[in-house]
Amino acid sequence: MKKVHIKSYGCQMNVYDGQRMADVLGQEGYVETETPEDADLVLLNTCHIRERASHKVYTELGKLRDLKRERRAQGRETQLVVAGCVAQAEGAEIQRRQPAVDLVVGPQTYHRLPELLRQARGGRVVDTELPPEDKFGHLPAPKPAAILARGVTAFVTVQEGCDKFCAFCVVPYTRGAEFSRPVAQVLAEVARLAEAGVRDVTLLGQNVNAYHGEGPDGRVWTLARLMHRIAEVPGIARIRYTTSHPRDMDDELIAAHRDLPQLMPFLHLPVQAGADRTLAAMNRKHTADEYRRLIARIREARPDIALSSDFIVGFPGETDADFEETMRLIADVRFASAYSFKYSPRPGTPAAEIAAQLPAAVMDERLYRLQALVEEHRQDFNRAMVGRTVEVLLERAGRHPGQLAGKTPYMQAVQIESDSHAIGDRVMVAIERAGSNSLFGRPVRRELAA
Ligand code: SAH
Ligand code: SF4
Ligand code: F3S
Repeated sequence: MKKVHIKSYGCQMNVYDGQRMADVLGQEGYVETETPEDADLVLLNTCHIRERASHKVYTELGKLRDLKRERRAQGRETQLVVAGCVAQAEGAEIQRRQPAVDLVVGPQTYHRLPELLRQARGGRVVDTELPPEDKFGHLPAPKPAAILARGVTAFVTVQEGCDKFCAFCVVPYTRGAEFSRPVAQVLAEVARLAEAGVRDVTLLGQNVNAYHGEGPDGRVWTLARLMHRIAEVPGIARIRYTTSHPRDMDDELIAAHRDLPQLMPFLHLPVQAGADRTLAAMNRKHTADEYRRLIARIREARPDIALSSDFIVGFPGETDADFEETMRLIADVRFASAYSFKYSPRPGTPAAEIAAQLPAAVMDERLYRLQALVEEHRQDFNRAMVGRTVEVLLERAGRHPGQLAGKTPYMQAVQIESDSHAIGDRVMVAIERAGSNSLFGRPVRRELAA
């Protein structure tokens, strides 16, 4: 039996792609293994978003070259593949820096993997084309056993690529132009997942709310319309979507947060910064107050919604006063969680050419303060759950025997003690305590739920 080890870095779309690559390789007789040592094929599914992420690839490749040598000495061959966004951005350069790499394959040609692997047996191969055909239409659907092994929550990429060109970001170059999968293809995949036991789907896209897929009626469907249809798929109890751009939060989508019970009250809506100068320099195409007003409208539609965001500190030219505006925005919105990063100049992006790059110490200080404030809000949000009863979808076994772990509608991790519930159940849980990363509670009968 041939074995493949897939390691995905970066965003959820890479996680999804990794699963789809496992599915296509499954057809070729490969089974997945957790360890590279016993793998005949090692695939790094890489991320190019920040400098550190792409450097990590070369460190990892150095170790894998050694592993490949050791295995060869034992008479076993190993194919080494680099996929994902570093593959797309650096192409043949990867093999110049690490000759042990057999195949470099960009995110848009995963459906060609079997053929490319065969070619690579005869010599090194690079494929970073952006082909006209839709890779998703050519990738095999996962088998029920594979779905089951991945759990009751699943990702489904519905949109790929980005036309926004934020000044700091490599995604428009590594993933190409915006593309939406047809509605029928998405529905077939969701139905298949639900039949195998999936209860919670997260629709993915670099700009998922810009979704504009072809509907069965031949018209263009929006994300809101797609989600209304997905809500009708038997078994699907929870729907989420990520990542959204503020400019694409239209009225219909906001209304879905009011009208669609399956749509979970959690929204990741990155704003990046709070000063209008910075937002303009980033090419985000909206102001801080426009974002505030948007949040107010979303909260009007769904008052209990939990919000999260991404932030970049130290964008070129960001002054102390600009940064204080970011802090003010955070204080105004009070996010339930947020990711934050020091600005990292990326080759080929406009922001990397700006002269006013900031010293590392300034970025460190700003990041520290920002994260402390977000953490305060996150803890407040979690503590406010104590004493409330919420629905929890049980997703996996907990840390200790007899424990089960799941998520609230607001994406908070919850641990319960129970021997009468199973993974995939939705239970009402009375929250008794908030730890630093999890809530703890006790299952109550649904009728008692307030
Ligand atoms: N499409 C999504 C995010 C894609 S990248 C969006 O529009 O929000 C995920 C996050 O990485 C971004 O939101 C941003 O906060 C961060 N990021 C992207 N490029 C970066 C860079 N050059 N330096 C630091 N952080 C960056
Ligand atoms: Fe990058 Fe901006 Fe596109 Fe998001 S919207 S992927 S941050 S260019
Ligand atoms: Fe990274 Fe590519 Fe995702 S650069 S964040 S893996 S789209």
